[in-house]
Amino acid sequence: MANGLDDVVAADTVLSDVDGAGGHLTIRGHSLMELAGRWRFSQVVRLLFDGFFDDLPSDAELERAIGKARVDVFERLRPMLGQLAPLDIYSGMRAGMAMLPDGETLADALRLVAAPAVLTPALLRLGRAEEPIAPDDKADHAGDMLRMLNGSVLSPALAKALDAYLVTVCDHGLNASTFATRVVASTLAGLTSSVLAGLGALKGPLHGGAPGPVIEMLDAIEASDDATAWLRNEIARGRRIMGFGHRIYRVRDPRADVLKAVVRGLSARNETGSRLAFAERVEQVALEVLRIAKPHRSIQTNVEFYTALLLEAAGFPKEVFSNVFAAGRVAGWIAHAREQQATGRLIRPQSHYVGPVPDLVA
Ligand code: SDX
Repeated sequence: MANGLDDVVAADTVLSDVDGAGGHLTIRGHSLMELAGRWRFSQVVRLLFDGFFDDLPSDAELERAIGKARVDVFERLRPMLGQLAPLDIYSGMRAGMAMLPDGETLADALRLVAAPAVLTPALLRLGRAEEPIAPDDKADHAGDMLRMLNGSVLSPALAKALDAYLVTVCDHGLNASTFATRVVASTLAGLTSSVLAGLGALKGPLHGGAPGPVIEMLDAIEASDDATAWLRNEIARGRRIMGFGHRIYRVRDPRADVLKAVVRGLSARNETGSRLAFAERVEQVALEVLRIAKPHRSIQTNVEFYTALLLEAAGFPKEVFSNVFAAGRVAGWIAHAREQQATGRLIRPQSHYVGPVPDLVA
């Protein structure tokens, strides 16, 4: 048994398949390429929820229901947001979501889908001594998140880019945060409790906490003006290069190219400047440095490298990149929680005791 449960198959799922050898991601029978940039996030929420809620409405009605859920979350939590402001914004978002009803209904689920998109801009603005902006229940989810952040959607292209990002990261097999969600759901705890477990796992820099450090790495490399030396030094000091490597993908994470194309589209509109060209150069150097330093392991670009550029271009500060990751992944967590509960099976593996053995009583 590997300590990290490497290669252990822990569940059957109809939700997503991560083909690590071929570099393909399938979400409920659709390839990622079919969905990202073509299906809206609310449509993919419906795709993931299909079969897990009896009262699931049509695509159009679900988009409106998510809008109403944003308003519901804002009205419920606005009075207490000031108390959450001193926390880091990820912890503030998690604390706010902990106050939502811990139920099993579609309404409970949609509040959890809405919450990261509402709480992240609100807490950011409070941290800047600015009044949070109330949601618009008629707006699309990604566009409304940007409007609540900036006061207006800077450009429809940015809203479309954020929507493509939310779709791209919505589900990804039994990753650490989704597995944590399923474990809690298997005890028949409610959807909020299950999602809170996912939020806790996602925060770590080995998982969803990576994109912010990617920006810090790019800035440090730019300041050093020697990418090869900087990256070699990181590895020599036993550090991981953020945005690279994956437990399942042995080839390039397909999401990296999806997000790179989205960022390229934005740079064509001159919304990302020369940042993309610099990042592409760093990526090539990092891949070569990793190939030489770790010849026994195929370490490729993962989803977080171009996530960092996309969210920076969308106007999010790096401190909230993991919040935005949660805004997409929360849909997958809920679907997996419902799928696990439908099995009626508690997740309870065994462990191999290697500690001291008590003296046998004579
Ligand atoms: C996500 O699982 C998912 O699906 C996750 C995710 C999702 O959508 O939910 O895809 C999202 O979490 C993407 C990953 C984001 N994290 C990072 O970018 C952080 C940097 N990456 C690494 O920490 C690492 O690649 C992991 C944690 C992602 C995966 O590591 P593994 O599979 O556990 O590999 P390992 O720790 O067993 O390492 C094997 C070797 C080691 O070298 P040796 O000790 O054998 O000499 O590869 C090296 C590691 O040091 N290595 C790296 C590296 N990744 C692995 N060395 C430098 N930089 C890296 N990024």
